[in-house]
Amino acid sequence: MGSLAFESQTLSSETMAIDREEDIVHVRKRARMLAQARGFDAFACAALTTAASELARNVWVHGGGGQATLEELSDGNRFGIRMVFRDQGPGIADLERALQGGYSTARSLGLGLSGTRRLVEDFAIDTRPGEGTRVTITKWTRF
Ligand SMILES: Nc1ncnc2c1ncn2[C@@H]1O[C@H](COP(=O)(O)OP(=O)(O)O)[C@@H](O)[C@H]1O
Ligand SMILES: [Mg+2]
Repeated sequence: MGSLAFESQTLSSETMAIDREEDIVHVRKRARMLAQARGFDAFACAALTTAASELARNVWVHGGGGQATLEELSDGNRFGIRMVFRDQGPGIADLERALQGGYSTARSLGLGLSGTRRLVEDFAIDTRPGEGTRVTITKWTRF
């Protein structure tokens, strides 16, 4: 079999626990460091930092803690950063509503998921009632 031109390779992967509120700041800082080191522009660095912060906060506030995995990718032309946030909390009962924005079960703004979705190229949620939630996002550098 020949190689696939657009297959991406994982260059690094690190998993961080989110079991204290301070861990949100660690995940946020680590996301910013990776984005800056891989040459993302200022807007993309801010997007990744904000996304990391919002999704780590959701793991903490709504999921009761969990983990974040930060990965550096390359597709041969661009670098990518993929972040996976998972918890074994209650899951998102009404995913459609949660993604619309302005809906919060924690009496906050409810803009974390909807805002994050607009900041990245790939955004996927896997959630099951009573089992937990996994949010995966990826952002790529420009050519
Ligand atoms: N990891 C999660 N586990 C369970 N529910 C979640 C999770 N993340 C988000 N949600 C649900 O989706 C809603 C919207 O999330 P978000 O847009 O981040 O707003 P906020 O965190 O301000 O409530 C939350 O209020 C919550 O009900
Ligand atoms: Mg939130």
